[in-house]
Amino acid sequence: MCGITARVGTDDSLDALLASLKNLEYRGYDSAGIAVQNGTGIKVSKHEGEVAQLESQLTSGDVFGEVGIGHTRWSTHGPPTNENAHPHTGCQGRVAAVHNGIIDNYTTLREGLQSRGHEFTSDTDTEVIPHLVEERLADGMAPEAAFRETVAQLDGSYAIAIIIDDDPTVYATRNGSPLVIGVGETANYLASDVPAFLEFTDQVIYLEDDDIAVITPDDYRISDGNGSWVPRPVETVDWDPEDAEKGKYDHYMLKEIHEQPTSLRQTLHGRIDGDDVILEEFPPGTFEGITRVQFVACGTSYHAAMYGEGLLSEWGVDANSFIASEYAAYPAPVDENTLVIGVTQSGETADTLEALQRARDRGARTLALTNVIGSTAARTCDDALFIRAGPEIGVAATKTFSSQVATLVLLGERLVRDVTGEPTDEHSQRLAALESLPGDVETVIENSQAAAVSRRCLGDTGHFFVGRGSAYSVALEGALKFKEITYEHAEGFAAGELKHGPLALVTPETPIFAIGTGRHQNRLESNVREIQTRGAPVIAVAPRTDSELADTADEFLPVPATHSALVAILANVQLQLVAYHAANEMDRSIDKPRNLAKSVTVE
Ligand code: G6P
Repeated sequence: MCGITARVGTDDSLDALLASLKNLEYRGYDSAGIAVQNGTGIKVSKHEGEVAQLESQLTSGDVFGEVGIGHTRWSTHGPPTNENAHPHTGCQGRVAAVHNGIIDNYTTLREGLQSRGHEFTSDTDTEVIPHLVEERLADGMAPEAAFRETVAQLDGSYAIAIIIDDDPTVYATRNGSPLVIGVGETANYLASDVPAFLEFTDQVIYLEDDDIAVITPDDYRISDGNGSWVPRPVETVDWDPEDAEKGKYDHYMLKEIHEQPTSLRQTLHGRIDGDDVILEEFPPGTFEGITRVQFVACGTSYHAAMYGEGLLSEWGVDANSFIASEYAAYPAPVDENTLVIGVTQSGETADTLEALQRARDRGARTLALTNVIGSTAARTCDDALFIRAGPEIGVAATKTFSSQVATLVLLGERLVRDVTGEPTDEHSQRLAALESLPGDVETVIENSQAAAVSRRCLGDTGHFFVGRGSAYSVALEGALKFKEITYEHAEGFAAGELKHGPLALVTPETPIFAIGTGRHQNRLESNVREIQTRGAPVIAVAPRTDSELADTADEFLPVPATHSALVAILANVQLQLVAYHAANEMDRSIDKPRNLAKSVTVE
C-alpha cells in the first residue's frame, strides 16, 4: 500500500515529484517523502502526514535535482513516523529507495546486513534495499547489476524505484505491485499509477512482473529478470488530465458522483445494439461450456459482485459471490467449467488477486472486471473486461460501482445467452433500460434532496439501510459509504432479516433507509411499518411511481421508474449523495477517510 513516483529530466524535478505525489495520495497519505540528486549527492526530505506537510518543509530551495523519487505511504511495517517515511537510504547515503508492497524475507536480509555492520534507522522492510545495493556498489559492481542482484534476493510483492548518487538514472522493478513508465518529451516518469504524471505525458508503458527498467532523461530500457531486453508497447492513455483533477468540486467524491452519467455512457458506449450485447472481447459463444460462475471481490466491488450474482441466479445461471479474503481461506469447489470473475476497480487488491490465483491454480477460468488497463488482475486473468469509468481518486468508490454493475449486466447478458440459450423479451427491456441509465442518473443528481435528508441524520446514534433482492447489495453499499466517510455507525441488512435481531437496535435515533425497487414491495412496506412502530424515522428511496412507499415513509428520495433490475443503481446514487452531504456537514476528510486507502495491495 503506497504510491511511488520518479522523474528523470535535465531540469529540476522537485515540483513535478510533488505534483505526482499529490495525485497518488489516494494510495496512502500517512507520510510522504522525496529524494533528489543533482550531482552532489542525494538529498532526502520526508515527513509524517500528507504531501502538503512535506511541501511546506521544502521552501528553502536547497532541495533540488534533475533525478528524483517520491513516495506517499500507508503504513504496513512500522508506524507512520518521520523515520519510517520513504525514501530510505543506506549507511553511506549513496542509494535512496522507495517501495510499495511487502518484502517477506526482510528480517533475514536485515539480520545479515546488521551482522556485516549495517545500521538501520527505521522499522521498515524497505530499508534493506538501499543497504543491499550499496553493499554491491562497494564491491565494485555497476549500478544496474547491483540493483538486479539486490532484487533477486527479495521475496514478496513490490514495486521499487531507486536512485544512486552521481548517476542520472532511475532503476525500477515490480513484482505483484503496479508500476508504469511515463514517456515524456523532455523528461521521463515512473509511478504506481497513470494519474500521477498524466499532466506531463499520456504516453505510458505498463511494466510486467520481474521487469527491470533503467530510465534516463531521454531513454529507457526494459529487461527481464535474466537481463534480456523485452519489448513493451508504448500506449496512449485517453484520459483527459482534467479527469484526474477536482475541477469545480470541493471533493473528488462529489465530482465523481456527478461524473456518473458520463462514465456510464463510456461504459455502455458501443456495447448495446438493439437486442444485442456487443462485447468485442467476448463474441457470442465465448462462455459456452461454463456451468458455474463465482465472483470474488472486496469492499464496494463485493457489493457490485452481489448484484451480479443476483442477476445471474435469476436468469438461471449457477452463480455465487464471495468476499475475496474468505474465498482464499475457504475456496469453493471449481472445475474447468467454472468462471471466476474478480470484480476490482483497481485490479490491484491483494485479497482479490489471491482469490483469483487460488481459482486459477485449481483449474478455473478467470476473468478480471476492472477499471485499470494494465493492472495486475487484467494481466494475470485469462480474460479482462474493462468498466471504462475513468480514473477515480476519492477513496470512497462511487462512479466505479455504477460502471461495475452496468458492465455486469452486459456480461451477464452475454453469459446467459451462451449458457442457457436465447434471450427473452425481458432481456430486451432490460437492455433498453440500461441505455437510458445515464440519463436517469442525471435526473437523480439534478433533483436530489439528499442534502436536506442528510441534515436530519446528524446526531443520530445509528443509520440502517435495508432492501430486498438487488436492493440488499445497495443497502450494504449505502451503509459502507455512510460509515467510511462520516465515521458514524451504519449497517446494511436484508430487509427480511430485521425481525431476526437488528430490530433490537431500532430506536427514534436510528433513521432507516428503505430501498425499494418495485419488486417485493408489499413485504418491504410491512418492514417499513415494523420499523415505524418502534419509532424510527424511515427514509424511502424508491421509484417515483411507488406512491404507497412514498406515503408511508417519513422522507422520500425518489428515483426515475426503470426496469426493476436497475432501480437499485439509481437508489445508490441517492445514498452516495446522502453520505457525502452528511460527511461534509461534519467536516470529515471525505476524499481521504481516516485509516482507509483506495487500493489495498496487502493481504
Ligand atoms: C478499498 C477501497 C474500497 C474498495 C476496495 C476494493 O477498501 O477503500 O473503496 O471498494 O478497496 O478495491 P478494488 O480496487 O478491488 O475494487
